[in-house]
Amino acid sequence: MTRPYNLPAFKEAEEARSLEELELVRVRALGKNGAITALVKTLGQMTPEERQSKGIFYQAMKSEFSRLVSERKAALEAADLDRRLATERLDLSLPAKDSPQGTIHPVSQVMDELAEIFADLGFAVAEGPEIEEQWYNFTALNMPENHPARAMHDTFYCEPRDGQAEPRVLRTHTSPVQIRAMQAQGAPIRIIAPGRVYRSDSDATHTPMFHQIEGLVIDRRIHLGHLKWTLETFLRAFFERDDITIRMRPSYFPFTEPSAEVDVGWSMEKGRRVVGGSEGWMEVLGSGMVHPRVIADCGLDPDEWQGFAFGTGVDRLAMLKYGMDDLRAFFDADLRWLKHYGFRALDVPTLSGGVGA
Ligand code: DAH
Repeated sequence: MTRPYNLPAFKEAEEARSLEELELVRVRALGKNGAITALVKTLGQMTPEERQSKGIFYQAMKSEFSRLVSERKAALEAADLDRRLATERLDLSLPAKDSPQGTIHPVSQVMDELAEIFADLGFAVAEGPEIEEQWYNFTALNMPENHPARAMHDTFYCEPRDGQAEPRVLRTHTSPVQIRAMQAQGAPIRIIAPGRVYRSDSDATHTPMFHQIEGLVIDRRIHLGHLKWTLETFLRAFFERDDITIRMRPSYFPFTEPSAEVDVGWSMEKGRRVVGGSEGWMEVLGSGMVHPRVIADCGLDPDEWQGFAFGTGVDRLAMLKYGMDDLRAFFDADLRWLKHYGFRALDVPTLSGGVGA
């Protein structure tokens, strides 16, 4: 390309092979002691006529040079990017070096299954602290001090916090999350609250830490029929059988009135007791209509808002569904047990794919 300017900087800029080289060329021309800068400086010593013609020429040369530099810069940058795109490649199709060894614990799997089932029914997941104030764990659930139900829970008490008289407890059930959720969200509300709970108890079917899931619905004109339908629907989806029958037995929980224990029918299949049919009954859930006093203590008007609640053991559900019989093995961290009963990491339960994995 022929240029009206015979300054070597133009050719050098055109031929620069890297951004660094181009920058050197630019500084040599436009820097403080640069060739073009020097030319522009000579304008000061010229006569006004000379300056007028040369001034225009030098300015044009300067801006043409700047334009050339930025054009070259863009081209070099694009070339640089192309080169990097061609070399810095990450082949995602390579097989992982070792296939994953770990498995998902049945409790985690069942919690995921429950979250999936209840999400489909419009329930959100709520959480609360495992170290809980007695007011939430007991009092607000209609278990005032000295209430006999407090003694039934084999509670672990913590040291009181500095400046606080009352010790906190390791929550003995997930029911306090009902209170926290109602206080935080008001009504209407539809939540499940899965999580760890603690009781001082240990044998083949009891461990000091275990898992529960709580359900709570508060809305207008809610009645027992809604509770029964919800539990039937949930148990059918969970056990993946249509022949699930339930039986509700009158019972007592301080925070529900009326209260019902829910049994599910079982039958014998290949010498094993499985959920489904109605050869016999086993208890799986506690439930009831939320006590008006509990609703009022959360700041809601019980004449306007009613609801139902239920609670059940997640570990127990896992044992029933997947056929384990010793709860203690759940928490032994024995790799052989986990390999046998665990789930593949990518087996995410979905309603369409089957929550049973
Ligand atoms: N919190 C009870 C327990 O741990 C279980 C329970 C029973 C929860 C009835 C409820 C309910 O929400 O309505 O034994």
